[in-house]
Amino acid sequence: MCGIMGYVGPQEAAPIIMDGLKRLEYRGYDSAGVAVSNGTIDVRKAEGKIAGLVALLDEKPLEGTVGIGHTRWATHGVPSDLNAHPHTDPTGDFVVVHNGIIENFQTLREELEAGGSVFTSQTDTEILAHLVAQEYDGDLAAAVRKAVERAEGAYALVVMTKREPRKIVAVRKISPLVVGLGDGETFLASDIPAVLHHTRDFLIIEDDELVTITEEGATVETITGDPVDRDVLHVDWDPGQAEKGGFEHFMLKEIHEQPTVITETLGGRLDEDGTAWLEDVEFDDDFARGLDTVWITACGTAYHAGLVGREIFQRVLRLPTIVEYAHEMRYSDPMVKEGDLTIAISQSGETADTLAAARLAAERGTRMLALTNVVGSTLSRYADDVLYTRAGPEISVASTKAYIAMLIGQYLLALRLGVARGSIDRDRATEISHGLNHLPAQVEEILENDEAIVEAAQAIVDADDIYFLGRGLDYAVAMEGSLKLKEISYLHSEAMPAGELKHGTLALITEGVPVIVVVTQRATYDKTISAVQEVKARGGKVVAVAYDTDTEIEKFAEIVLRIPETDDLLAPVNAVVPLQLLAYHVARLRGHDIDQPRNLAKSVTVE
Ligand code: AGP
Repeated sequence: MCGIMGYVGPQEAAPIIMDGLKRLEYRGYDSAGVAVSNGTIDVRKAEGKIAGLVALLDEKPLEGTVGIGHTRWATHGVPSDLNAHPHTDPTGDFVVVHNGIIENFQTLREELEAGGSVFTSQTDTEILAHLVAQEYDGDLAAAVRKAVERAEGAYALVVMTKREPRKIVAVRKISPLVVGLGDGETFLASDIPAVLHHTRDFLIIEDDELVTITEEGATVETITGDPVDRDVLHVDWDPGQAEKGGFEHFMLKEIHEQPTVITETLGGRLDEDGTAWLEDVEFDDDFARGLDTVWITACGTAYHAGLVGREIFQRVLRLPTIVEYAHEMRYSDPMVKEGDLTIAISQSGETADTLAAARLAAERGTRMLALTNVVGSTLSRYADDVLYTRAGPEISVASTKAYIAMLIGQYLLALRLGVARGSIDRDRATEISHGLNHLPAQVEEILENDEAIVEAAQAIVDADDIYFLGRGLDYAVAMEGSLKLKEISYLHSEAMPAGELKHGTLALITEGVPVIVVVTQRATYDKTISAVQEVKARGGKVVAVAYDTDTEIEKFAEIVLRIPETDDLLAPVNAVVPLQLLAYHVARLRGHDIDQPRNLAKSVTVE
């Protein structure tokens, strides 16, 4: 997620904007820029950290009391000075900053180029500057309104023009935007922390709303021009809380961002009939049809996403899919061969073992696809194809939203390959697409009902050992649930296929030992319940993750963590959320540093 700042008032704008961007640094970014309107539009922008932009401003100061600024988390176009925001139209009279993704930007760019427009960057944002300039007819708000009517996707768009110098216009669709109300000055930001030290009075801009700010204040309208009477929100958070959007920890904030992450990762990539459009995936249908083996390599949570991927690809593509820990694969002389597809999964795109395994697979002739969250990361630069997860920066060491985005990425990839191979018919592809589009609302429903999860956390918080069971896709989810619990609660846990329990581990199940069972898969439901009964017979304490339509599970589980029913193939997306929250609540009860657990790093860039 990018950071946005705007200011109109009596003070110099640049220092206020730079200070606000610094307060948004925690959101992660790869370039930054600022523009002021002082009779003309002046822009300063640079790749890299804000310190570089500060140096640029020291060298070439900006003067003016109206301005906008931006920290960029790249989605279209690698991090560079040219791709940094703000972006202007060719005349330089209009300037924009943008947070989000314009899904139809390629079509719009081609239309504009056909009309003679010339672009200087690879970004989707620059197109918006051209559109606003094209639509301008003396009223900036009207021009912005017309411009975004042509754009599809998620955006918080902020626009200035030298033709109306004491004004900033902004519009929101999915990506966040707030207005800070000062005394004779008005602020705009993507997040409250950026301006909390100037004012505690805010207007939250909602989806499909447009706001015009001047030093007198703010006027909010719907995107169709109807006036909106928005109550002022008085915020009494401390700055630390504010960075977390009012949540106690980044991990909880990121868990709650998951519905938006699913929406954004799917955005513009999936038709109702299951056709997937993967902008940086360049293999053709012949490659898909000729494929006979898929490899997945990753570490940690990304590896667990790959375990889900294995089930997805084997069911949808009917192809052998081999998942390897990267730190094992790189030394195992793997049987990868020319014509195979190797998917390297990495949130950071910098994990040393994953880079090494990916490089090895590529050297042996497989096509290498990077499934990663960081545009321009090392892994993305090695790869033949890249599928970005669009989860935005993940601050908490314990990965949650990036994991779910990895699952979404693999569903998209499976549809792309499966439809090309004819291994799934159009009806099934449509069914999967329909199910995917329902996931944001279903995850939201789980997030709003966490009472049973808190109860389960209280039930296991003092346990010495906790076991996670599941079969097939449920086992893959159980593996991730176990890691989440371990890495932030420091309680020992292990996951295994439910069928494996009786081959040894059952010896450890005694009175009161907690066993978390993920039981969504209809085909193996009865078999998994058999394992649950083995646990019950030894006095184990069973907590189950089950569909809200399951009427049997209460007979076997003391606590049931309900999730909305979905296509079994998609169940991991819903099923993992209660386990993320379970780990979070146990760690909170144990008073741990949840975002920075002991001994762990966000990205293991060493071997
Ligand atoms: C997950 O919660 C951990 N932070 C860790 O296992 C992580 O998933 C692993 O180090 C891989 O990181 P990557 O996705 O950036 O490659």
